[in-house]
Amino acid sequence: MRTVLMAALLLGAAGIAPASARAEEPVVPPLPAGDAARGKAIFNGRGGCAYCHGTDGYIGRRPHESDALTQGIAKLNPQPADLRNAAALKAQDETQRFLSIKFGHPGTGMFAKKHILMDHEITDLLAYLAVLRSERQ
Ligand code: HEC
Repeated sequence: MRTVLMAALLLGAAGIAPASARAEEPVVPPLPAGDAARGKAIFNGRGGCAYCHGTDGYIGRRPHESDALTQGIAKLNPQPADLRNAAALKAQDETQRFLSIKFGHPGTGMFAKKHILMDHEITDLLAYLAVLRSERQ
């Protein structure tokens, strides 16, 4: 995970967009309901989301793994989104959020997760992100 994160940070820092990530966007069928509890475990664990978006989505509570990683994340431009602050988020619906997670945002630290997460794990994350937006702070 750490290697993937560092590679993503370097790509983001250099402003290099991963090769035409958007070109292979599929038409997303109606998404099945995910499981928020499983989504939370993925968010704080294997998905690596917490390193940038904070433990339990609290942007100020990032786990510290190494100084290099902490510094790399601090330098990201744009900064990771505050996923509890619904009013400040760009994605308008579940399909956009699904695509953000699966394919990332080229040229930013939000790298594609299609190699580390299955589609059903992404729908679990979507269910958890809905909880974060409803809980706010
Ligand atoms: C290396 C840092 C990093 C990691 C790890 C990361 N993100 Fe992000 N994420 C970002 C950044 C930076 C943005 C803002 C990109 C932008 O503004 O275009 C973002 C944006 C997002 C958005 C879109 C927010 C909006 O404005 O609508 C979602 C949803 C999201 N991330 C979810 C996740 C999930 C779920 C994971 C774990 C599977 C994850 N991110 C892992 C850095 C990261």
